Amino acid sequence: MRALAEAGTGTGGTAPARAPERRGGRGYAFDNDGDHAAEQHECLAAAYDPVTTRRLARTGVGAGWRCLEVGAGGGSVGVWLARRVAPEGRAVVTDIKPARIPREPAMAVRRHDIVRDALPERAFDLIHARLVLMHLPEREDVLARLFRALRPGGWLQLDELDATRAPGLLMPDAAAGRLFDTFQRAKLRALEASGADPAWGARAPAAMRRAGFAEVDPQPHVTAWRAGSPGARLQAHHTRHLRDALIGAGMTEAELRQLRRLFSCPDFCACSPVFYTVQGRRP
Ligand SMILES: C[S@@+](CC[C@H](N)C(=O)[O-])C[C@H]1O[C@@H](n2cnc3c(N)ncnc32)[C@H](O)[C@@H]1O
Repeated sequence: MRALAEAGTGTGGTAPARAPERRGGRGYAFDNDGDHAAEQHECLAAAYDPVTTRRLARTGVGAGWRCLEVGAGGGSVGVWLARRVAPEGRAVVTDIKPARIPREPAMAVRRHDIVRDALPERAFDLIHARLVLMHLPEREDVLARLFRALRPGGWLQLDELDATRAPGLLMPDAAAGRLFDTFQRAKLRALEASGADPAWGARAPAAMRRAGFAEVDPQPHVTAWRAGSPGARLQAHHTRHLRDALIGAGMTEAELRQLRRLFSCPDFCACSPVFYTVQGRRP
């Protein structure tokens, strides 16, 4: 087990590389170092950063705060935090595969497995994780670790999806609607097969309360996915990034091509899954 550098220290380097673990033959459904990762990070940042940072700002995060960003992916939220807390504060920005996280003066980037690697206790004023715990079968244990890593009064913000329902609203024709539904079901199967809980976003507030958090405050966010929107681009991205899992779940290459056309069709509109930002504080 390797320790995460304490908040307020660190040079911005990363610990030595090592392979991420897959637990029980399952593991993170995407990957963070393949050809598709940059596109995924760009889509996630475009779709969710405005909601995430608006909510984070309401904690009052500012100069001097010690923050932890867990499973940072492309690091856009970590960069936002580092700029908020500079110059005296520090954002420790972690991922099991941190190679794509950019560097900022008030930022320490760490390779860190939030399930297994050591975390300092009572160290952070604010911890944020977006679309990470839903992928981890050990999510409730992780929540307990995040609780202990906060100083009393410190904030946790979890941003998570309930991906179980994202109905098509407008389709060019009935066949496109059926294809979209098939895609949604196949994606849920692929996520579940990897150990993810696609409905975790709706369960996270109660889990946070069980873990001891006070002032638990979930905010649901829903938007329309139209052609060219970040959400529609993210769906097209999933047809590429999750290609093998979707084929394994019964879809064909031809269907995946049709879906890519559908997501750029002006007649397409779907309701996004509910994206929950859930805040709570360590008493
Ligand atoms: C869906 S991406 C979300 C990335 C980023 N939080 C965002 O919303 O843009 C999930 C991220 O969690 C990371 N991850 C997966 N398992 C992890 C673990 N056990 N510990 C730390 N990070 C992990 C992945 O490498 C990936 O970058």
